[in-house]
Amino acid sequence: MSIARSEAWKKLAAHARVMRKRHLRDLLPDAARARAMCAEHDGVFLDYSRQLATPETLRLLVALARSARLAEKIEGMYAGECINATEDRPVLHHALRAAEDEVIEVDGADVVRQVYGVQHAVHRFVERVRDGEFLGATGRRLTNVVAIGIGGSYLGPEFVAESLATDPECRAAAAGRTLRFLANVDPIDTARALAGLMPERTLAVIVSKTFTTAETMLNARAVRAWLQRSLGQQATARHMVAVSTNAAAVAQFGLDPDNMFGFWDWVGGRYSVCSAVGLVPLALHYGFAPLARFLAGARSMDRHFFSAGYARNLPMLLALFGVWNSSFLGFPARALLPYCQALHRFAAHVQQVDMESNGKGVALDGKRLPFAAGEIDFGEPGTNGQHSFYQLLHQGRTVPADFIGFRRSQQPLEVESHPVSNHDELMANFFAQPDALACGRTAEECAAAGIPARLIPHKVFPGNRPSNVLLLPVLDPYTTGQLLALYEHRTAVQGFIWDVNSFDQMGVELGKTLALRVREQIARSRSDPDARIKGFNPATSALLKRYLS
Ligand code: F6P
Repeated sequence: MSIARSEAWKKLAAHARVMRKRHLRDLLPDAARARAMCAEHDGVFLDYSRQLATPETLRLLVALARSARLAEKIEGMYAGECINATEDRPVLHHALRAAEDEVIEVDGADVVRQVYGVQHAVHRFVERVRDGEFLGATGRRLTNVVAIGIGGSYLGPEFVAESLATDPECRAAAAGRTLRFLANVDPIDTARALAGLMPERTLAVIVSKTFTTAETMLNARAVRAWLQRSLGQQATARHMVAVSTNAAAVAQFGLDPDNMFGFWDWVGGRYSVCSAVGLVPLALHYGFAPLARFLAGARSMDRHFFSAGYARNLPMLLALFGVWNSSFLGFPARALLPYCQALHRFAAHVQQVDMESNGKGVALDGKRLPFAAGEIDFGEPGTNGQHSFYQLLHQGRTVPADFIGFRRSQQPLEVESHPVSNHDELMANFFAQPDALACGRTAEECAAAGIPARLIPHKVFPGNRPSNVLLLPVLDPYTTGQLLALYEHRTAVQGFIWDVNSFDQMGVELGKTLALRVREQIARSRSDPDARIKGFNPATSALLKRYLS
């Protein structure tokens, strides 16, 4: 039976009809409500009092979670049950950051042992490279890393790389080194990734779970050719390493099997940052120590997620209000607003984690969902976003938002004679925006402020726009790990409630298949300009004709 037919769902739908008539302007002054609607774990503080909700809403959402057998599903995930049913796989990214003495068995094998086997190999390898023991073909140190991969083999590592780039310790550890990402098959991306790099000092890391992804394999061949042009055939073994689950394809590509770092089919691409996918490029650049702290942060959030009760559990609270906003209040999008420039790739990562996971049309049993699952995630760091799309957030459509801020900056700065530090200036905006969204400004307030009558309709802010506020100590490797795991688990919980498979991604396949047919046509037409364009609808045929002429 669809969750939408459960009593719990119906009660929430009725409750939403009542809550839609309430206004956050009236709810927010309630101090007891404010005290009740927050939670904290290991320095991560969540204030969800700006949700259009009351403690009763949370009670009903928890009942929905129970009705969706959430606890059972989470336990199944932890224990390695095959919850990715369409691909017949367990989902165990939490094992990637488990403590070394933890045991998680799948088919009689302890996956945590396997994880540490690879982690130790990565650690040894990056130290050899960073210490100048593993040298390039001409005997020079390898100080540049180009990580070639796309989707989950790119977005998470790039978000973490950017998050750590201005952390003082990480910055010092990366001095004199360069880390670039090459994801897009667009040759412009290849040019950008390789610009200014010397082949003899460059190590390419090909990151691909399947080692068949068209974009990654073509980019890997382009980089191999670039290396070989300067360094000859030997470049492949000395200047290219791989992270993959497909050892046969890696060997076929010509890489030294000793320089392949494995992971497992129970790690979904978009959940793979804590595997060798993230560890190899990031630890080459920053050293292994910050990555160990990053894993510890994710582990802290995992332990909290797998043990805390509903009303204190941060990923669950984010997820429950995600379901409330999208399924009951009818808000299909969600803005991620980190007030921290180092998180400028966070939204792009969460976008893949969340939209590839929960953007589904059918339930696990294959039946069409009677509601829209998944949300539209987007975002930019504040304050940049304020000068861009916040206009729509304040006076256009309602988009629930997550504000993410830090008590201290990675890079403190004060400018003489300004009343507050630059970080305080940033954070003044961080605290103001959620209230502006929640409370708005009435016509009466506009009139009292002396705004001319003809402008009042334009200056009214309707308010009643929900948001979460997350406040953390400082962005560093540990808190980056916490954030990563927080948002991974949020997505899983929403998927568990909607009863979709959050761990496959069949919706990406059709376009790829059609692209193969287009590629064949282009190849045919390039070698024979008179070749007939066939097999496409008239609109596509006309476009291809124009492109090929
Ligand atoms: O876009 C689909 C997808 O399969 C993602 O889920 C995945 O992260 C990405 O492609 C890259 O896949 P691979 O790591 O196998 O190259």
